[in-house]
Amino acid sequence: MSDTKVVLPERDIPRHWYNVLADAPSPPQPVLHPGTGQPVGPDDLAPLFPMDLILQEVSTDREIPIPEEVLDVLRLWRPTPLHRARRLEQAIGTRSRIYFKNESVSPAGSHKPNTAVPQAFYNARAGRSRIATETGAGQWGSSMALACQLFGLECKVYMVRVSYDQKPYRRMMMETWGASVVPSPSPDTNAGRGVLEADADSPGSLGIAISEAVEDAATHDDTSYCLGSVLNHVLLHQTVIGQEAHRQLDLAGESGVDVVVGCVGGGSNFAGLALPFVRDRIGGAEIDIVACEPAACPTLTRGPYAYDFGDTAQLTPLVAMHTLGHDFIPPGIHAGGLRYHGAAPIVSQLVVDGLVRAEAYRQVEVFESAITFARSEGIIPAPESAHAIKGAIEAARRADEAGREQVILFNLSGHGHFDMSAYDAFLHGRLEDYELPEEEIQRALRAIEGLPKPEVVV
Ligand SMILES: Cc1ncc(COP(=O)(O)O)c(C=O)c1O
Repeated sequence: MSDTKVVLPERDIPRHWYNVLADAPSPPQPVLHPGTGQPVGPDDLAPLFPMDLILQEVSTDREIPIPEEVLDVLRLWRPTPLHRARRLEQAIGTRSRIYFKNESVSPAGSHKPNTAVPQAFYNARAGRSRIATETGAGQWGSSMALACQLFGLECKVYMVRVSYDQKPYRRMMMETWGASVVPSPSPDTNAGRGVLEADADSPGSLGIAISEAVEDAATHDDTSYCLGSVLNHVLLHQTVIGQEAHRQLDLAGESGVDVVVGCVGGGSNFAGLALPFVRDRIGGAEIDIVACEPAACPTLTRGPYAYDFGDTAQLTPLVAMHTLGHDFIPPGIHAGGLRYHGAAPIVSQLVVDGLVRAEAYRQVEVFESAITFARSEGIIPAPESAHAIKGAIEAARRADEAGREQVILFNLSGHGHFDMSAYDAFLHGRLEDYELPEEEIQRALRAIEGLPKPEVVV
């Protein structure tokens, strides 16, 4: 019997990030200035980001070297194991072989440190001393708090109110790594005060928290803004996941993969696993690449591909992406990291180009999959990652129905050790599904009427 885990030695950590923009069939749409509607240049982004990251954001080089200082930190937990999920296969009775990449082994418990570390490094090298950022599920804030600590930066985290209330231990973790954390909307920014005036009990959203962090960075000279997803450079940093998985599948004796699955909030863990396989698909390999999202926040499956702001207060540049409208506040589902109105431009474009397809699942069926996984493989998954588990189980079911034996790979983006209140709600029948009414989508989409339209409207 082949190994249960494929573990690479440290010397096999990838030495470069893979940039899909070198191979993608469609060129990226220009990013537009929020005030003028004209394409932004590096100077427009300089108040928010250090130049190294801005250059990565616009680069079309296929390979971008990973600095030695970054590799030195990644070595604390990378390479991550690739597991063969034999017990899950048995539990669901499939003939397919299911593998998962275990990103839950990082110190923060998810894939997010893969980009937090280089972002902190480039900011420190550029002489910035403070970072402002947002967090949905708390995973990104924890990762940034850790990375800032390792590179000697101060860190302020705007944590979406509903997560702040659901996950006090995430806040304590961030504070343990030296960050200061406030619930968002907060009274600390104009953006936050504006939302609180309209609704003192606002549950918050990633869109609002991003507005607060961007405003904080734009109004403090020593401060940069860091984003945990969506942007090209963030997706780029995550490609260590897929590069390792590629090599590990070879070592497991697989000649290829039929289905690659990841969950999508902003798109970074999905892209990190999938982009090296998108490259294979562009090269002619037949791979079904599936992005899984919550039915309560169905950005890729029901949102149009359009220009929109990345945040609620319209402070960020306009990017072409699948969106539900920047003032859409997703229902307070437990996969906090998937409550985002938009999706990465790169992932959105790949959906438009037909290289990636999306599926949406309801919260209760996602937790059923999470329980099946926890009771077979032992790991309690993050609710976000459970969407990918559901996607892998669905792929196995389709293969079985078609009488095929497939190789299915999914990303376990994080563990759920700080999400136990969600499991408690599920196990005691208190977890509810939320069907998003079409009228709510239509209402939210009115926010993007009048904005410029991308050239390829689908
Ligand atoms: C464990 C986990 N998975 C997935 C996500 C979704 O983000 P992304 O789509 O950028 O991977 C998050 C976001 O917080 C997360 O914490």
